[in-house]
Amino acid sequence: MKKTNVEPAQGKLGILVVGCGAVSTTMMAGVLMARKGMAKPIGSMTQMDKMRIGKGAEKQYKHYGEIVPLASLDDIVFGTWDVYPQNAFQAAMYAQVLQEKDILPVRHELEQIVPMSAAFDKDYAKRLDGSNIKLLPDGNIPSRWEMVEQLRQDIRCFKEEKHCSRVVVLWAASTEIYVPVEEKYHYQLADLEAAMRADDRQHVAPSMCYAYAALKEGCPFIMGAPNTTVDIPAMWQLAEQTHMPICGKDFKTGQTLVKSGFAPIIGTRCLGLDGWFSTNILGNRDGLVLDEPANFHTKEVSKLSTLETILKGDEQPELYGDYYHKVRINYYPPRNDNKESWDNIDIRGWMGYPMQIKINFLCRDSILAAPVALDLCLLSDLALRAGRYGIQRWLSFFLKSPMHDYTQGEEAVNHLYRQHTMLKNAIREMGGYEADEEVD
Ligand SMILES: NC(=O)c1ccc[n+]([C@@H]2O[C@H](COP(=O)([O-])OP(=O)(O)OC[C@H]3O[C@@H](n4cnc5c(N)ncnc54)[C@H](O)[C@@H]3O)[C@@H](O)[C@H]2O)c1
Repeated sequence: MKKTNVEPAQGKLGILVVGCGAVSTTMMAGVLMARKGMAKPIGSMTQMDKMRIGKGAEKQYKHYGEIVPLASLDDIVFGTWDVYPQNAFQAAMYAQVLQEKDILPVRHELEQIVPMSAAFDKDYAKRLDGSNIKLLPDGNIPSRWEMVEQLRQDIRCFKEEKHCSRVVVLWAASTEIYVPVEEKYHYQLADLEAAMRADDRQHVAPSMCYAYAALKEGCPFIMGAPNTTVDIPAMWQLAEQTHMPICGKDFKTGQTLVKSGFAPIIGTRCLGLDGWFSTNILGNRDGLVLDEPANFHTKEVSKLSTLETILKGDEQPELYGDYYHKVRINYYPPRNDNKESWDNIDIRGWMGYPMQIKINFLCRDSILAAPVALDLCLLSDLALRAGRYGIQRWLSFFLKSPMHDYTQGEEAVNHLYRQHTMLKNAIREMGGYEADEEVD
């Protein structure tokens, strides 16, 4: 490895996960199994990908960890918060994503991961009814500012008890109801803080309290759900002020991964698009929460944003000026975590003749999400040690609606292959190599 300005990954890395559900426990069990040599971290870019560094006769293909100092899986310590009190072993069994043979060998470690009480407001996820929530002695939920203070205390205690040198905080909890970004509350940090102090429950989601607490405690924050939490200028200000990396939102896993990889085929060949209809059936707790229209709306906004920056109506009005894009998620318990998605794509070819493409993906939601969650944690920790702070656009590759500064007219990059280039170039730069766009 070249000598770089990135600080080495010394000591333990705490990964504090908000939500001890299907995605989190699948990630935790997978990491614990991988470090015993009993499972392979397939789908994880940090563990599996080999990328090119150097050009021409100099070129070499290396794992990310051979180019930049990444934290080792052996150094990870997990902690969590959840509305339900079940430990990570019980939660993994409940989620039914992994078979017992892939959980039992790490049962003891998973049992030690016991959720801290959640900063929770039922108005943000009506379908959840757990008892492990932060309450005041009078039985009421704490104000938003009290939530922040309690969460900060949780982070400090975890870091000290587990002897971590660094901690990242990852939201892998349920999708909250849609909180539209409002300039009055969400643009200036001082206004957001004032809203927290005034216990303004309408404009401050519990997830914002987690993000605020994390950044204040010197922890990078990652938003895995489509919540607007860190997608607000006030939180960018805080990230700049605290020199913390942030990224989000919404893990790019099944249908949207396919969409962001497939849409470039249509755009590259200059085929026209009349419509793209995406529907899913999903039966896990995530599906249950998303069955509530207010929670689904948050997901819908996120899922719909993918196409418009790949197939652009303003640049190619004849091809993409007027297509119909619809996304549905249907809660269907028999399938549990095994999501099935269908895409019907109506395209147009030579002289306007119509054609159709059908994609049917029988995926496993958390099996796809777990490596993305792990990679985002390891790469956010890398960003921290590399002195990169604020919005981490190079992590767009992993996200359904990546963050960007929309107040400056910036556009999200959703094109999978451009995102891959951004990711590799950031690794190159942090590894002391030049960024480039050579074809590998
Ligand atoms: N699996 C995927 O492919 C995928 C893709 C993109 C995004 N996501 C998002 O990831 C998140 C997790 O998905 P999942 O399948 O693990 O869901 P899950 O329902 O199994 O787990 C979420 C957990 O979060 C807990 N929770 C809710 N609000 C909380 C709060 N305020 N504090 C602490 N805990 C809280 C719930 O009790 C639940 O146990 C969801 O928001 C989902 O939309 C998943």
